Amino acid sequence: MTEMVLPNDTNPLKNLMGGKIMHYMDIAGAIVAQKHSNCPVVTASVDNISFKKPISLGSVVTIQAKITRAFTSSMEVRIDVYSEYIPNNEKFKSHEAYFTYVALNKETQKPIRVPQLRAETAQEIKEYNNAAARRTLRLLMAGRVSPNEVNIDFKQLVIQ
Ligand SMILES: CC(C)(COP(=O)(O)OP(=O)(O)OC[C@H]1O[C@@H](n2cnc3c(N)ncnc32)[C@H](O)[C@@H]1OP(=O)(O)O)[C@@H](O)C(=O)NCCC(=O)NCCS
Repeated sequence: MTEMVLPNDTNPLKNLMGGKIMHYMDIAGAIVAQKHSNCPVVTASVDNISFKKPISLGSVVTIQAKITRAFTSSMEVRIDVYSEYIPNNEKFKSHEAYFTYVALNKETQKPIRVPQLRAETAQEIKEYNNAAARRTLRLLMAGRVSPNEVNIDFKQLVIQ
């Protein structure tokens, strides 16, 4: 998904507002989650986001979203954000984050089982395997599992 940073989306320093970037990320993530599940989806959680560099007015922002793993009704989506200021030939990766979406049955609006994902490349397999530790951490942080129930390998939580 590609967007251009317009004046109404910036802060007084003329940089893209963090909330606007998250809005773009959420839309891109929801699109891939809907495509994978063929169902309406809701955003269940958003993992840590650290903005590394500001994105200036007039920049072109590219948001790449990819499913890393499907669980039962939930899907983890990795979202990478790139910025390009075309007149100065400046390009950089701004940040990345994992969003979790849950597929809902169209009629009952209850969580519904989604197709499993087959990881193929070495990078996809690594993301797929590490998704389990990230899921455990986010369910812990959401109070959905107790600290006594989890055993997290923190090395698997580092974004690569
Ligand atoms: C997310 C939601 C559907 C979960 O519903 P629920 O009745 O608790 O359902 P369940 O307990 O069966 O959980 C369903 C899935 O959600 C996942 N989930 C729930 N809370 C989560 C969280 N905070 N982070 C990650 N995954 C979460 C569960 O792990 C489960 O995944 P799985 O089926 O792959 O194992 C519900 O909490 C909801 O509708 N939240 C509001 C969503 C919303 O409005 N988002 C913003 C606008 S889109």
